[in-house]
Amino acid sequence: MSKFFYLETFGCQMNVVDSEQIVGLLQAGGYHPVDEPENADLILLNTCSVRDKAERKVYGHLGRFKPLKQRRPDLIIGVGGCVAQQEGERLLQKLPFVDLVFGTHNIHRLPEMVAGAQRRDRCAETQFLDRETRKNLFPERSTDGNITRFVTIMQGCDNFCSYCIVPHVRGREISRPSVDILTEVREMAARGVREVTLLGQNVNSYGANEPGAPSFAQLLHEVHGVEGIERIRFTTSHPKDFSDDLIRCFSELPKLARHLHLPVQCGSDAVLKKMNRGYTRAEYLNNVQRLKEVCPDIRLTSDIIVGFPGETEEQFEQTLNLMEQVRFADVFSFLYSRREGTAAADLEESLPPQRKQERFDRLLALQQKISTLIWQQDVGQTLPVLVEGKSRQQGELFGRTTWNRIVHFEADPSLIGRIVPVRVIASMKNSQRGQLPASAEPMRQTG
Ligand code: SAH
Ligand code: SF4
Ligand code: F3S
Repeated sequence: MSKFFYLETFGCQMNVVDSEQIVGLLQAGGYHPVDEPENADLILLNTCSVRDKAERKVYGHLGRFKPLKQRRPDLIIGVGGCVAQQEGERLLQKLPFVDLVFGTHNIHRLPEMVAGAQRRDRCAETQFLDRETRKNLFPERSTDGNITRFVTIMQGCDNFCSYCIVPHVRGREISRPSVDILTEVREMAARGVREVTLLGQNVNSYGANEPGAPSFAQLLHEVHGVEGIERIRFTTSHPKDFSDDLIRCFSELPKLARHLHLPVQCGSDAVLKKMNRGYTRAEYLNNVQRLKEVCPDIRLTSDIIVGFPGETEEQFEQTLNLMEQVRFADVFSFLYSRREGTAAADLEESLPPQRKQERFDRLLALQQKISTLIWQQDVGQTLPVLVEGKSRQQGELFGRTTWNRIVHFEADPSLIGRIVPVRVIASMKNSQRGQLPASAEPMRQTG
């Protein structure tokens, strides 16, 4: 008899990759995916705890499954990811309808844990693996026929930014062997993948703990050499480890997209220090300037935290000022959220919530203005777009420009997987509308 699973994923790209591994393992065990939890024998949530809001969302969604379990006691409900890592056994105690809890290093144990749950054996596995095991253990992922895919190059984080839960729930920074990464990229290229995004919490320090490993810049060169891969991206970069070699990659490697996500978090040196970010405002701006020198049309995006404990009006204005100076194409901004167990959790928060929100709104308004101006520049330009698939709108395709902007345009599906020139005719808040020029020859050219 067929068995069905329903999987919901929260959080960052790491969880997206982890979920692909979960799907791979379950499919190998004879499970088929379904879109509705009501139709599943196994429900799994892959969770995120980076901010309070993310964590609450997980509990909200889990609550939805309780009545299902009451109606069908054979239904198995499991929780994985960063909330699972943090809460472990406590989740089983708090939520009696949950059968299994697996941490960020324990995905490979899922088949045994599901089998245990079928025998009514509830369990939580959240132990971190040792470096050697973790480095080489990378369960097969589902293959989905996508044109773009993530490739994990390192796991965990050693930076311990004072506000951040990630090092606590993902463990120490471990780089994957470069041969494994290259093998994976080659296999992807052979299956039709055209763009890879190299993934890690701090990709710039790739190989730092591994004697003999290539540097991140060297790894980029190696991936660049893989036949069939037309475009390369990477995320996330940490400004403190931004090497000249890496900056040079933007002029040396034509397949490298001219977009960089470089989280700054804030524009005040005093706050950066309290955040334990390891760079100053001037160093950050210097990185940006050097990047623009080698690659004048590069576009940057960033993450910013508003209302870090003790942030003064003046310090906040330094952040606004930095945004005006750098002119990010997009900013992901977050209200500071206290995370138990982090260093900043002990700092007093004196700013009333409405003042915090007011700063947040000001920041958003400024960024909106800058973003609109930047994305409007594309209107009327013909840009290379890597076509990823069919849009929801009948007869339309979508793809991305080098700057990672989604463009929708009418075209024949035979163009999927190719880089084609598209004339941008309108720019909206999150995407653009384009048109194929009269003769749409496939383009093989720069990222
Ligand atoms: N490794 C990446 C991103 C990690 S989490 C990096 O170093 O940039 C993604 C973003 O969430 C962070 O960049 C930060 O802006 C935000 N974030 C992390 N912890 C937070 C917290 N406690 N409160 C608010 N935002 C947070
Ligand atoms: Fe968190 Fe800092 Fe590590 Fe990013 S670099 S995951 S913000 S601790
Ligand atoms: Fe969230 Fe974990 Fe990623 S806390 S941001 S899913 S590493």
